[in-house]
Amino acid sequence: MERIAVLTSGGDSPGMNAAIRAVVRKGRHHGLDVVGVQRGYTGLIQGDYLSMNLGSVGDIIHRGGTILRSARCEEFRTPEGREKAVLNLQQHEIGGLVVIGGDGSFRGAQHLTALGFPTIGVPGTIDNDIPGTDFTIGFDTAVNTAIQNIDRIRDTASSHERTYIVEVMGRNAGDIALWAGLADGAESILIPEAPYELDDIVERLARGDRRDKKHSIIIVAEGVGSAIEIGQMIKEKTGEENRVTVLGHIQRGGSPTAFDRVLASRMGAEAVDLLLAGERDKMVAIRNNEITSLPFDTAFAMQHQPDMSIYDLASILAI
Ligand code: F6P
Repeated sequence: MERIAVLTSGGDSPGMNAAIRAVVRKGRHHGLDVVGVQRGYTGLIQGDYLSMNLGSVGDIIHRGGTILRSARCEEFRTPEGREKAVLNLQQHEIGGLVVIGGDGSFRGAQHLTALGFPTIGVPGTIDNDIPGTDFTIGFDTAVNTAIQNIDRIRDTASSHERTYIVEVMGRNAGDIALWAGLADGAESILIPEAPYELDDIVERLARGDRRDKKHSIIIVAEGVGSAIEIGQMIKEKTGEENRVTVLGHIQRGGSPTAFDRVLASRMGAEAVDLLLAGERDKMVAIRNNEITSLPFDTAFAMQHQPDMSIYDLASILAI
């Protein structure tokens, strides 16, 4: 293999640039040509390729977003689109592809492998919802962004003795909510993986009231439902005003934390080694702080579960 390609796909996450840098520089270290594909699978189909050298990835390790851009691609869902993508890769004499993204992007990568083209996935999403890996690139930064903002909300919540309901991202997963909730001492954390009782939330607020704690933070993972509606239901039960903040896409941007930069660097470099070792149809993972890998199929057969011990601990400590 003399030439490999790298792309980013799906929702971006802080640290993707550090992963691109690692793929390019580890590839160059092994004497490979590295090509950057722009706008994910769209660029793969359209042949939107950039030749990358050591300088192309200079000064990006600290930057959020992705220099290769990201997109969702309808055409890639069709067999014709995928065949076009493989043809393009072969015409450019590319021997392997690193896909940095979430599970949807990995399913796309699997289609390429099924057509005989070697791909390796690097998990990049703020949601931390990819089975088989303890962490995904961008999750740590998103949690830090969330808590920095919730700290600000806490200041004003405390001044005005109010309850705030804060919605954090996580389409189907409660990881950001769990970590931010424990780190911020939230009274209640609502995640899609655990049912919640409105009466329990209200009881916790009342308990706080009884010990003269007038402000409260309730964290809601996006996957549970609208924080605005939950805020309304709480207001109806308590008869008291509250305020709702939806943190939204600010959690997807910003300079990656040291953890995400290191994770992205380790994972990107591992992806290149796997391609060179003749591996394909696999994703890189981190487990117990060791970089490892597993077949996409094994990962897809598993179900992501957040660490529920964090949920239990947060519930005890927020009393
Ligand atoms: O998958 C990451 C994520 O940020 C989710 O938390 C969120 O539900 C989704 O992407 C938002 O996607 P979009 O950028 O298309 O609105």
